[in-house]
Amino acid sequence: MNSNLIIPTHIGIIMDGNGRWAQERGMIRTMGHKNALKTLKALCIHMADVGVKYASLYAFSTENFKREKTEVDYLMGLFIESFKKEFKFLMEKDVRVVFSGRREPLPKNVLEAMDELVDDTKDNKSLVLNICLNYGSHAEIVDMTKNICELYKEGKIKLEDINEEFIQKNMYQDLPPLDYVIRTSGELRLSNFMMYQASYAEFYFPKVYFPDFTEEKFDKAIIEFNKRNRRFGGVKK
Ligand code: IPE
Ligand code: IPE
Ligand code: MG
Repeated sequence: MNSNLIIPTHIGIIMDGNGRWAQERGMIRTMGHKNALKTLKALCIHMADVGVKYASLYAFSTENFKREKTEVDYLMGLFIESFKKEFKFLMEKDVRVVFSGRREPLPKNVLEAMDELVDDTKDNKSLVLNICLNYGSHAEIVDMTKNICELYKEGKIKLEDINEEFIQKNMYQDLPPLDYVIRTSGELRLSNFMMYQASYAEFYFPKVYFPDFTEEKFDKAIIEFNKRNRRFGGVKK
């Protein structure tokens, strides 16, 4: 990639279109998730190599529990396999993993695999990979509000302590705001992904299903980001 390009500090990726990718090839939906894992591994290596500092990946929404049990079970199994085996390359790339989302009602073996991965990678210093699993922006705001109310009730904070910095620190993870949100598959919506963090993000909606989102397509997204004129409410330069 051209070294003059600005790399967004925090990129959010809504990895959508796995089911359609499989269905268009006459396969069952879960094959799309399996192939998405290969794409994801290559993409993580690439993001670490080009110097992305934070990447938030939407892996499973709070609403995705509405899906057929067979698909949900397959995804939970795939998470365990990924975290325990497939993600070993993260150590070589010095990638640190954190998770955002509600622990309830994730199965115990998924939680254990998540905790182990967080612990194994906690001292790594390159890319921070924030995996959004059983994540929803609404749930995050509800959970944050409850935590803050507890702190207030216990006398640990005063009303004056609540400001934007404090809110960021009390989200599931204390990460800088999103600079760029990429959603594959052509859908033009957030689907409950990091609404608060995306307030001044740029958006990009490539018409490709996630399993086909190659490193080259990611590079194209970065070129597009560099054409944007971000103003944050100020005046155009
Ligand atoms: C995204 O792909 C993966 C998850 C939501 C877990 P989908 O499974 O939503 O695929 P489509 O959008 O139905 O094609
Ligand atoms: C968003 O995709 C969630 C993930 C990619 C994990 P969905 O496929 O669940 O979103 P909708 O239902 O099309 O809005
Ligand atoms: Mg979808």
